[in-house]
Amino acid sequence: MKKVTLIPGDGIGPEISESVKEIIKAAGADIDWDIQTAGAQVAEKEGSPLPQRVIESIKKNKVALKAPVTTPIGKGFRSVNVALRKELDLYANIRPCKNINGIKTPFDGVDLVVVRENTEDLYAGIERQIDKDSAESIKIITRKASMRIAKYAFEYALKHGRKTVHAVTKANICKLSDGLFLECTRETAKNYPQIDYKEILVDNLCMQLVQNPQKFDVLVLPNLYGDIVSDLTAGLIGGLGVAQGANIGTDCAVFEPVHGSAPDIKGQNKANPTALLICAVNMLKYIGEEEAAQKIEKALYTVIEQGSVLTCDLGGNATTEEFTKVIIKNL
Ligand code: NAI
Repeated sequence: MKKVTLIPGDGIGPEISESVKEIIKAAGADIDWDIQTAGAQVAEKEGSPLPQRVIESIKKNKVALKAPVTTPIGKGFRSVNVALRKELDLYANIRPCKNINGIKTPFDGVDLVVVRENTEDLYAGIERQIDKDSAESIKIITRKASMRIAKYAFEYALKHGRKTVHAVTKANICKLSDGLFLECTRETAKNYPQIDYKEILVDNLCMQLVQNPQKFDVLVLPNLYGDIVSDLTAGLIGGLGVAQGANIGTDCAVFEPVHGSAPDIKGQNKANPTALLICAVNMLKYIGEEEAAQKIEKALYTVIEQGSVLTCDLGGNATTEEFTKVIIKNL
């Protein structure tokens, strides 16, 4: 039996985690869940939204499935998600984005991957109030982190038969920080002559993504642009309810969807568990539970393609529980 850390998160997190656990169990995967809570409620009880026990559990198990955790907006504690990525040095955030049969969107043929640097940039959380009317945030870009993510992006492209890597920056404005990122992607590109290397400014990328997304393959970006662009690319394939992601480090991997805790639909049995389920499928493949992973994948995509039982975000009216049941039936 394989031990995997599960962070059920908050908001819709516990609902979709429950759904995914049920499906994995029904698919026959041998998982011993090490359930680790984190977030605001935990902070009230334990003094920190990300207690050390969570970090230790992932370090020990080497793999985790993580549902979203709410971050207070404009105040309060630092993001648990950002802290976790930093603590475990999960330096690569991989967010593949491909059309799913049965989900109608304005574009066909979208098949791209966002490779987001996951440990620095504005997410270093270095901010200060200068006076009551001004504040500053420091954007940190280092050669070490930029070289590492650039190498990851090119290696990913090679391994997955991808042809092009676009480096995405705003180096016309942030000449030093994004300039350094670009210097690193350029240098790395020289080692991968088989991959077509291109550069694009992030504003132009956003425009082109909503006009002609098919022309993009692998995108490598600093943290903030990667965060924003991956929500945009999620929109291209049907929304956050279906957008998968993974945080990869040298020692461990944390599989987590792109979406947040969706407080607007919390507790309403409406959330789409698909994104977390695809993350779980990837997690199962990662730990060698290939058979269960394939069974789940097949059942999930069959249900979506049939289109009669879908959650609200995909235009249906099924509850999370009904959607879960029909996937289990299809296993
Ligand atoms: P969000 O991703 O939670 O929601 C944006 C919109 O998408 C909402 O209308 C929501 O209902 C919908 N949505 C998201 N996931 C869905 C799903 N599985 N099924 C159906 N609809 C879904 O983004 P928002 O509202 O900006 O952030 C809410 C909270 O989540 C914030 O505290 C934010 O910091 C946190 N967050 C956490 C993340 C994580 O844990 N990795 C990632 C992003 C945000």
